[in-house]
Amino acid sequence: MALSCDSPLLLWKQMSRTVMMYEELFTIVGYVYAGKILLSLTITIVRELRVIFRSRFWPIDLVSRYGKWAVVTGSTDGIGKAYAQELARRGLNIFLISRNPEKLKKVADEIELEFGVETKILDVDFSLSRDIYPRIASHLEGIEVGILVNNVGFLNETAMPFSRMCEDDLWKLIKINIAAATMMSKIILPAMIKEKKGAVVNISSVAGMHPLPMIAVYSATKAYLYYFSEALRRECRSSKITIQTLTPGYVNTNLISTSSYLRRGGLSIPRAGKYVRHAIATLGVVDTTCGYWIHELQLWFASLFPRYIISEVCMYLQAFLYKDTKPE
Ligand SMILES: NC(=O)c1ccc[n+]([C@@H]2O[C@H](COP(=O)([O-])OP(=O)(O)OC[C@H]3O[C@@H](n4cnc5c(N)ncnc54)[C@H](OP(=O)(O)O)[C@@H]3O)[C@@H](O)[C@H]2O)c1
Ligand SMILES: *[C@@H]1O[C@H](CO)[C@@H](O)[C@H](O)[C@H]1NC(C)=O
Ligand SMILES: *[C@@H]1O[C@H](CO)[C@@H](O)[C@H](O)[C@H]1NC(C)=O
Repeated sequence: MALSCDSPLLLWKQMSRTVMMYEELFTIVGYVYAGKILLSLTITIVRELRVIFRSRFWPIDLVSRYGKWAVVTGSTDGIGKAYAQELARRGLNIFLISRNPEKLKKVADEIELEFGVETKILDVDFSLSRDIYPRIASHLEGIEVGILVNNVGFLNETAMPFSRMCEDDLWKLIKINIAAATMMSKIILPAMIKEKKGAVVNISSVAGMHPLPMIAVYSATKAYLYYFSEALRRECRSSKITIQTLTPGYVNTNLISTSSYLRRGGLSIPRAGKYVRHAIATLGVVDTTCGYWIHELQLWFASLFPRYIISEVCMYLQAFLYKDTKPE
């Protein structure tokens, strides 16, 4: 009799002990996970603070650390133009490479007048074939290049599914986003390695850190830059060359101007000048960065979710940003 009364009680006790054990286990797992999130957030914040501190109190003298000249590709507008101006402010002579000779001359004159440095210009269309590179190499002969900014990049004015993209655009993406950065580095890096001095800045994109539907090819070309730079950084470690990968989020330039929402700007979509002031402060301090603290926080937030969720969300985000975009 006593047994039949006792046994459900015993069972209940045993069960609740098991539940308690699991509860403890889950609590521990919860703490570990929360700890991991907190740690990554702390690392992100400390990194950003370090950059701000360094640039405020021990700014790096870019000329003596890297060299006298900076080469910037795609330097007549947006991020590239802002880089050229900001590097000139730091005392570097600027070699500007873009497509349009008039725009080049105008930007070069402005820079000489405002910052009193030397400039050179070269009009090159990076969407053309391989023959453009010997010409670039010959113009760069004898110039001691300290900093190369691989900035030129292409993105069709509207996002669309891969199958709707025209062939011309596909080749342009590959030539401008991949070939230009690769070939420019091929021209300039060997001398830097010999001198054991120099910096290469590759402008990738957050779009290269997650596979993004609707801008699939752009996203993949930027992933190429991201991987290439990281591998090269290890190769060049002993020659003390800085190889930096910048992965900006949205920056308010012509590149994104067809989206009326993005064009409005805001704290998370800075103008090129503001973006580049932040980004240059990271040169020589961190090797892979968004270059802008809000973008860094956005990336941290995205890192909390699995990749497929980010990709899915981004697909609908593109559709929202570029009104006529629909998945097929
Ligand atoms: N804006 C963003 O939200 C954002 C975000 C992440 C990454 N990025 C990356 O940042 C880089 C710069 O973008 P941006 O927003 O500053 O672009 P942008 O404002 O459109 O400027 C592009 C620059 O490149 C030049 N250029 C364009 N096509 C060229 C070609 N075929 N040959 C030579 N020069 C050419 C343009 O000058 P000409 O017209 O005179 O040739 C212009 O100076 C790109 O690599 C882009 O992918 C931008
Ligand atoms: C963007 O894509 C459309 C459709 O393929 C094309 O007609 C247009 O010329 C492209 N724009 C640029 C700047 O290449
Ligand atoms: C990025 O930086 C390295 C450093 O020179 C360069 O060789 C590479 O070609 C650049 N661009 C790419 C394609 O990653």
